Order: sequence, then structure tokens, then C-alpha cells
Amino acid sequence: MAHITAGVATSHVPAIGAALDNGKAGEPYWQPVFAGYEASKRWIAEEKPDVVILVYNDHASAFSLELIPTFAIGCADEFQPADEGWGPRPVPVVKGHPALAWHLAEKLIQDDFDMTIVNRMDVDHGLTVPLSLLFGQPAEWPCQVIPLAVNVVQYPPPSGNRCYNLGKAIRRAVESFPEDLKVVVFGTGGMSHQLQGPRAGLINREFDNAFLDRLIDDPAGQAAVPHLDYVREAGSEGIELVMWLIMRGALDEKVTVAHRFYHVPASNTAVGHLVLENALG
Ligand code: DHB
Ligand code: FE
Repeated sequence: MAHITAGVATSHVPAIGAALDNGKAGEPYWQPVFAGYEASKRWIAEEKPDVVILVYNDHASAFSLELIPTFAIGCADEFQPADEGWGPRPVPVVKGHPALAWHLAEKLIQDDFDMTIVNRMDVDHGLTVPLSLLFGQPAEWPCQVIPLAVNVVQYPPPSGNRCYNLGKAIRRAVESFPEDLKVVVFGTGGMSHQLQGPRAGLINREFDNAFLDRLIDDPAGQAAVPHLDYVREAGSEGIELVMWLIMRGALDEKVTVAHRFYHVPASNTAVGHLVLENALG
């Protein structure tokens, strides 16, 4: 049987990818950011997941205002890094797991979550930056990856509660897949940031740290927080944090914190990162 051993939450700031790709990770500005991921890189090298279900949002790379799926699951054999305006990132092609992805699509749709099935999708920094942060710069990604894209770009985003319950449904679906696979779920985006308008540059450390506390210890309470609270307190792009609730819903009610990291600034964003383990992982 497939099973979920752990969850990883991380910001997916595009400038982190650019820093890595351009050999700037050791510079004084970036060094503290990458230092916060060293323990997690060691952790995942030991954990060795077979598959990562990577929850992220597409930033108008694969989708556009012409087509806005609330939840989309990538069922293809592979996914190319997207060209976000300055050429695709020099990272490996992302290899999917079509059998598990189709199984997830079937179980989630029959469990009342209307997933959009995607057979072709380029993946942008929302997906590739978290892979770089956890796996570094290998010639091939060391596991298969199922992209799960969530609309948090065009209003209205899904509620925290909907995301948390989707995570629970993902867990049920994974645990009904007959093959013995070790699965880790990533939730990405956040933390507080706003990229445009009069409040551009907004960072809210108090909100971010309360969110981290509550995501760990009171996820159902955090799931009840309405989307406007995120926008008001964490900025218009802070709403990306609802995606962390999908990861959290896929874990036990009580989890062990293997790693926690918070740093300001990285680009326009507060960087947050958690590694959470299931008791019976
Ligand atoms: C930034 C952060 C993001 O999450 C994103 O998607 C785009 C830009 C930033 O901090 O610049
Ligand atoms: Fe983003």
C-alpha cells in the first residue's frame, strides 16, 4: 500500500531559483536563506520518497485568464520547466507518476473534489524552486513528482477548509493505491508578501509565526480562517498559504516537527519552511 510519511512546506520565491541557477547561493544576502534548508536536504536524502505530491500554484505560466482550474492534477509522464520570460530554469525535467496520479484523480473526483485532469503542463517556479531547495542541483530529480496546481492567483481562491479537506482526501486516496510507495506531500507558497499596489513589500512576522504555530498544532482551527484574513494580514500573495493546509490535511492530527525555519527577506517575501512527520511514517 502507498503511504504518506511526511509533509514539507516551503515558500517558492522565484529569486531563490535565480540565485541558485546563477551561482549566487553563497552571497551574503542568500546564504542565510539556503542555510535554513541544509537540515531538510539531509532529511529528505534519508527519507528517500518514491513520489512527491507537490501542491503549488501556477503563476500564469501553464494557465492564463483563459482557463482557471481551482484544483488541477498533472497526470503526464513528464513536465517541462516553464519559460517564465527569461528561458526555462536549467533544472531537470520533472518525471510524473501517471498511475498514482490517475488513481488520485479517480478517488478525489469520486470523493466529491472536482479535479481538473492535466495531461500537458509546463511547471513554473512554484514547483521547481521547492524541488531545488530540498534536492539541490542534481542531474535528475531523485523521485517522481505529481504536480497539484491550486488557483490562488485569480479571485476567488478555494477556502482554507476546502484545502484542508482536500489534503485528507488525498491521504485516503494514496492509502488505497496498492503499490508500496513512500509519498511525501509538499505545500508551497507564502509566507506574507504582496507584489503590487500601495502595500507592495508587506511582511507580517507576527501573522507568519502564528500561522506556523497553528498549522502544526491546530490545523482545523487554522483551516477555518477566512481568505480575507490572509489578504488583509499577509498581503495579496499571502493567500498562497492556503496551499499549506492541503499538505497538512494529508498528515496525522498530531505531527512531529523535524525542522522549522523562518527568514526575512528573500526578494519581496518572508520565507517559511516546515518539515512535519507522521507518527507512523
Ligand atoms: C515573489 C514571490 C512569489 O511567491 C512569487 O510567486 C513571485 C515573486 C517575490 O518575492 O518576488
Ligand atoms: Fe508565488
